[in-house]
Amino acid sequence: MCGIIGVISKDNNNVVPDILNGLEKLEYRGYDSAGLAVVGAAGLKRIRAVGKLENLINKLKINPISGAVGIGHTRWATHGKATEENAHPMLTRDVVLVHNGIIENYKELKSDLLKKGYEFTSQTDTEVVAVYLQMELDNGLSPREAFQKMLRTVRGTYAFLAIFKARPDVIFCAKNKSPMAIGFGKSICVGSDASSISASCSEIVYLDDGDYAEVTKDGATFFDDGFNVVDKPRVAVTDDLINSGKGGYSHYMIKEIMEQPSAIRKTLLGNDVPQNFFDKVSRILILACGTSYHAGLVGKYWFEKHLRLPTCVEIASEYRYRSPVIEDDTLVLVITQSGETIDTLEAMEYVKKNNNTCRLAAITNVLNSAISRLAGFVFHTEAGVEVGVASTKAFTAQLTVLAKLAFCENFELLGQLQNLPQACEDSLVLKEDIDKIAFRIKDCSNAIYLGRDNLYPIALEGALKLKEISYIHAEGFAAGEMKHGPIALIDDIVPVICLCPSGSMFDKMFSNIQVAQARGKNVIVFTDFVGAKSFDKSVKKIVLPPINQELYPILYSIPLQLLAYTVTVLKGEDVDKPRNLAKSVTVE
Ligand code: AGP
Repeated sequence: MCGIIGVISKDNNNVVPDILNGLEKLEYRGYDSAGLAVVGAAGLKRIRAVGKLENLINKLKINPISGAVGIGHTRWATHGKATEENAHPMLTRDVVLVHNGIIENYKELKSDLLKKGYEFTSQTDTEVVAVYLQMELDNGLSPREAFQKMLRTVRGTYAFLAIFKARPDVIFCAKNKSPMAIGFGKSICVGSDASSISASCSEIVYLDDGDYAEVTKDGATFFDDGFNVVDKPRVAVTDDLINSGKGGYSHYMIKEIMEQPSAIRKTLLGNDVPQNFFDKVSRILILACGTSYHAGLVGKYWFEKHLRLPTCVEIASEYRYRSPVIEDDTLVLVITQSGETIDTLEAMEYVKKNNNTCRLAAITNVLNSAISRLAGFVFHTEAGVEVGVASTKAFTAQLTVLAKLAFCENFELLGQLQNLPQACEDSLVLKEDIDKIAFRIKDCSNAIYLGRDNLYPIALEGALKLKEISYIHAEGFAAGEMKHGPIALIDDIVPVICLCPSGSMFDKMFSNIQVAQARGKNVIVFTDFVGAKSFDKSVKKIVLPPINQELYPILYSIPLQLLAYTVTVLKGEDVDKPRNLAKSVTVE
C-alpha cells in the first residue's frame, strides 16, 4: 500500500514543502522509496530516492525543484523491487503519474505498448499506465480524453494522480478500491487519507469507487464512473483526523500506547448500543485481519458468554474464497482500524452480495473510510489517528466497543468498564519493570506467548506485536495446547511469556506454567496481586492492577505492547516503520 499526495497552490507558491509534509504523514503506508514531481518553468520535473522519506529530502537539498502544482508518492513495493527506477512518480515525455493499488491487466497492456515501440525503465505496473497515457496523447487525444480512456482500459485497484504537460494547472485524480480524499483550504490537496492533507484543509471530500476528479487551484470537478459531472458532499476536518505528530515521544507507537487510557475513555463515552441492535440476530460473523482479527477472537468469547449468540471469527483474506455458508439473520461485524483493508472490504462485499438478510456493522477508527461507508452501522473507536504500524490504542479501543456490545444487557459489567481507563493508567506505570524483561529477551531468536480463555487471543496479539516490530519469531498458543506439540519448543533460552491473572482459569494456567517451568528457565508471568502469591521467586513476575476478569484482554494487552516496544528500541529497529510492513493494507 502506498501513499499518494497532490497539492495545488492558490497563490502560485512552491508546493514541495506541503508535498513533503503530506508524505511524512503518509510514510506509514509504505517506505520502500519516495518521490515527487512538480510543474516548473521548464515543464515536468521529477525527483526520487530509495528508502525512507529522509533520503528524498536530502536529495532535494542538493537538487531542489519547485512548482505550484505537484504530486508525491511513498511506496510499498508490489511489482518490482525497492529501487529508484521503480520509485514513483512515473514520468514520460508529457505526463507524470503516481498510483496506489495493483493493475491486474498491466502485462497485456505492456506487451501491446512494447509492440508499438514504447520503452520502459521499470518493472512496475504503474509505468504501464503512464506509458499508456503517453500513447493516447501521441494518438492525438486530449489529456482528459486520454485519462478517461485509460480508466476504461485498466483493470484493478487504483488511486491515480496525474499531471499532463499540456494541462499544467490540473491534477487528474481517479479512485477504485484504494482510498483518496480531496481537501479544500489554503491550498487544494489530494491524499490517500484525510490526515495527510488536513493540515492545510478545512473541508474534505471522500471519493467513491469509480469516481474521478479534475482538481485546479479554483476547486474540483467530480465525475462518476459514467464521466457525468456529479456533486460530492464535503465534510469538515475534525481534530480526530489530524495527526498531531509525536508530541515529544521518541516514537508514534509509545505515544499511542500512552494514549490508551484517554482513547478508551473517549470510546466508552460514545458507541452506545441501540436498543434493538441484536433483534432478529441469530448469529454473529466477525471479519477482520491481523490485530483486528485478534480483537474479533476476544469478541467471540464475550458474545457467546454474555449474549449467548453463536459467533464465528474469520480471517477476511480466507473467508470469501472458501465458499462459506452465509446463514440468514447473521450480524456481520467488520473490525478494522483503517477502514481500508482490502481483504476485509472484499469479504464484506462478498457477504453483501450473497445474502441480503445479513446486517453489516463496522468497528473502525476512520469514519468516512471505504468500510465505514459500506457498513449499515458504524461504531467509531475514538482512538484518534494511529500512525505506528503496530496497532495499539486502536486495538484496545476495538475491544472496548466489543465489550460495550457484549455487556449491553449486563449493567454490572458495563459499570466495570468505567474502571478500565484508571487500570490502564496504573499498568502503564509498570514500564520500567517491563523494560527490564525486554532487556532479558532482546537477543532471543524466538518467544512463546501463552494464554487461556479470553487471554488466548491476547497471547496471539502479544506475539504479533513482538514479531512485527522486533523481528523476533514469536508465537502465541492456547496454554492447554502446549502439551499437544508446541512444548517441544521449550528450552532454557526461549522466553515463555504467560498471562496468568487470578480468576476461574488461574489453576489451569498455573499448572500449564509449572509444566513449562519444569522444562525451561525463562518463564515470565503477567499476573495480578492475588495470582502473584502462588509464584515463587524463580519466576519473573509483572503484577498488574486488579480488574474484572472479563476485562483482562484489554488490560493485559498493554504490558505486551510495552514489551514489544522496548525490545525493538533496544534492538535498534524502526519501531514505527518496521520492514516489509505498511499501516493500511490496500492490496490483496
Ligand atoms: C497491527 O499491529 C498490524 N500492523 C496489522 O495486523 C493490522 O491489524 C491489519 O493489517 C488490519 O488492519 P486494519 O485493522 O486497518 O484492517
